[in-house]
Amino acid sequence: TNRNVAVIIGSLRKQSLNRKLALVLMELAPPSLTMNIVEIGQLPLYNQDHEETPPVAWTAFRDQVGPSDAVLFVTPEYNRSIPGVLKNAVDVGSRPYGKSIWEGKSAAVVSASPGAAGGFGANYHLRQSLVGVNVAVMAQPEVCLGGADKHFDAEGKLVNPSTAEFLGKFTHAFAAWIERFVAK
Ligand code: FNR
Repeated sequence: TNRNVAVIIGSLRKQSLNRKLALVLMELAPPSLTMNIVEIGQLPLYNQDHEETPPVAWTAFRDQVGPSDAVLFVTPEYNRSIPGVLKNAVDVGSRPYGKSIWEGKSAAVVSASPGAAGGFGANYHLRQSLVGVNVAVMAQPEVCLGGADKHFDAEGKLVNPSTAEFLGKFTHAFAAWIERFVAK
């Protein structure tokens, strides 16, 4: 059965390693997953005062991600946590109270960094927020891609076949994870 996956990237820069990783994962994923990137850079900072007449960008984001079966987060680490822009997207999606788009969804979190730890700190901070909004985050396998600046060629393709194999397995595990949470 086909499942829709919203792909959310925690970096806004054009040459983002995490965006490259997200595109690679979308290519490697089994055909049962329809994956679409949902942008977050245009979302105004969350302010509860604006909830009665929410900015159109908030509403559009909620309407885009809300109907998806699952979410794939691909994020860098900023100062041992997730970038503010990604936390903002989590917050925007979580409101208004009682209408969170995250409620009951399944998800996977991957992180990438030029550093050796592969964004582990961000990866696990994001999991904390996702547990808080009742998202079932895939526990294992996990991807914290270290040395990420060495993993892509000029076209954004993976240079190492064993990395492609590992990431491909990850996407298949994610597809199986999603099946555990969709209403049957
Ligand atoms: C970083 N970077 C970084 N890397 C890391 O492994 N741990 C960290 O805590 C931080 N902190 C940090 C803070 C800020 C403000 C910036 C701009 C960068 C480096 C970061 O991993 C690197 O810039 C990545 O390339 C960012 O991901 P994208 O944009 O390539 O996807």
